[in-house]
Amino acid sequence: MSQTPNGQPDDQPDGQTVMIEMIFPEQANHYGTLFGGNALSLMARAAFVAATRRARGAVVMARSEQVDFTTPVRVGELLELRSEIIRIGRSSMRVAVVGIAEEMDTGNRREALKGQFVMVAVDASGRPRALTEKTAKKEETV
Ligand SMILES: CC(C)(COP(=O)(O)OP(=O)(O)OC[C@H]1O[C@@H](n2cnc3c(N)ncnc32)[C@H](O)[C@@H]1OP(=O)(O)O)[C@@H](O)C(=O)NCCC(=O)NCCS
Repeated sequence: MSQTPNGQPDDQPDGQTVMIEMIFPEQANHYGTLFGGNALSLMARAAFVAATRRARGAVVMARSEQVDFTTPVRVGELLELRSEIIRIGRSSMRVAVVGIAEEMDTGNRREALKGQFVMVAVDASGRPRALTEKTAKKEETV
């Protein structure tokens, strides 16, 4: 989190949103590894949190794309989900999510999954809502 000039924490978190999940058996398939549908759910949550932090209001998922599962995540491992807004439009935000698996006993880490999601800020009627200057202050292009 960044700080204001007087050293106080800024009211907007910068950079990545990080969530850590312990993988339990009920999230696994019959091979003892994280079930893909549950992995997608975790990624969607991570994207949702990152987008909500930026929009400071309701957001919905409009698109998921480029989701890759590169290595299985075993029961008993940690999954660290890092989400980052990489592009901001009028009402939409593109969020990149990367999942890093970590062996609890060794600390060994490896990238296990990644994907991108388009999240749209919406009003009370569920219609797209323009992001404010403040929430759109870090507009980036890719
Ligand atoms: C997302 C939603 C609000 C967009 O409504 P819409 O009438 O298509 O709105 P618009 O065409 O004005 O698009 C609004 C913004 O979303 C973006 N967008 C909409 N659909 C998109 C898609 N499929 N992929 C990428 N971006 C999309 C537009 O590019 C636009 O971005 P901008 O404002 O930054 O320029 C609407 O499609 C919806 O409610 N979808 C269901 C969401 C939901 O329930 N998700 C949970 C999973 S089921």
